[in-house]
Amino acid sequence: MCPYRVGAIRPTLCEQGIHGRGFERDVSGVTVSRRRPRLAAGRARALGLPTRGTTAPNRLRRVDRWLASAGWSVLRRATDPLVVDLGFGSSPVTTVEMYDRLRPVRADVRVVGLELAPERVAAAEPAARPPGLTFARGGFELAGLRPVVIRAMNVLRQYEEGAVESAWAALVGRLQTGGILVEGTCDEIGRRACWFTLGPDRRPRSLTFSAHLGSLTRPSDLAPRLPKSLIARNVPGEDVHALLTSFDAAWERSAPRGAFGPRQRWIAAAGLLRRDGWLVLDGPHRWRLGELTVAWPPGPGPMPLDAGPMPLDAGRTPLDAGRTPLDAGRTPLDAGRTPLDAGPTPPGPEGLPPSGVGSSWLESAECLGEDTEHRLVEQDEPGLLDGGGSREHGG
Ligand SMILES: C[S@@+](CC[C@H](N)C(=O)[O-])C[C@H]1O[C@@H](n2cnc3c(N)ncnc32)[C@H](O)[C@@H]1O
Repeated sequence: MCPYRVGAIRPTLCEQGIHGRGFERDVSGVTVSRRRPRLAAGRARALGLPTRGTTAPNRLRRVDRWLASAGWSVLRRATDPLVVDLGFGSSPVTTVEMYDRLRPVRADVRVVGLELAPERVAAAEPAARPPGLTFARGGFELAGLRPVVIRAMNVLRQYEEGAVESAWAALVGRLQTGGILVEGTCDEIGRRACWFTLGPDRRPRSLTFSAHLGSLTRPSDLAPRLPKSLIARNVPGEDVHALLTSFDAAWERSAPRGAFGPRQRWIAAAGLLRRDGWLVLDGPHRWRLGELTVAWPPGPGPMPLDAGPMPLDAGRTPLDAGRTPLDAGRTPLDAGRTPLDAGPTPPGPEGLPPSGVGSSWLESAECLGEDTEHRLVEQDEPGLLDGGGSREHGG
């Protein structure tokens, strides 16, 4: 029997061949520790299972950029600006980068990198800059912390799909009111990333795609980077399959815009996707970064909107990100859903924090300042914002 079949939060089966001392490979090829996990909750116990901890500098730049701009207001409005980076891996580098990227948003931000393996926490210690940046041992119980933002990238990927809901519940249960969990997956060098944003109600609110467009053949190239709970669902009949199929079709229809570079083509395709009825939550200001955020779950299915013609490229529109789409509210797509920027938060179910995260947590980068936004992007991906969109370096 697989030694990890303990409790609800467990990784994938790992009865395959041994892969290095103390590690073996699970069915998805991920290397995981062979040690019997200690999953029981308790003060001295960290919930979860350590893996090899693959990471790389700049790998999570796309998520950080989104957090520092589109999601900036969550941090900005927090009474206690505490951010947790769950599962920082074998090196603390992405946690250090996250701290540096979030400080322009909130100078007093505190970032805590958590890892299950005590030796990784010890190895990260020299990178700490207390009180702003620290490292500690912790798992899904978050070492008792109550952050306003949790970033959990490339962590749940190594668990079974059935473990995702309980992991989400454990994590969002620790969030401050109005906080968010960003949970997803990316490739090794951070060129392709997908992540959910969840609020304290335990349900995803949105799904974000972010890609280096110069190396993308079509939007569905992102499918292998879908968050754990969607990765096996990219099959006909599932929402994520319908979305990626629609996005690919929009991409095809936008082929003529490819003459101006992949960025212009992505912007055009994102506009078409919205016209096709998907509740796209952001706008050209985010699309030009190779990003797109849709409400999730998408509702009863895409329906054509009578939103009228939308220019294929609305150009640099700093105010569009996070604004209620013109068509929101006019379509059954958003029926019953809590709009991301629906204003005051309704009370949550008994015993749970309110279900909304307040108004407009998905905000315009304008509030961060176009210059700051531009600087952040240029630091990470030089040349991305220059010219007509065909120049894209680094990723
Ligand atoms: C693939 S690495 C990702 C590192 C980094 N977040 C990144 O994206 O580059 C996943 C890390 O998550 C850690 N991990 C797995 N489950 C965890 C849990 N429940 N709590 C904290 N860390 C966990 C593993 O030990 C591993 O170091």
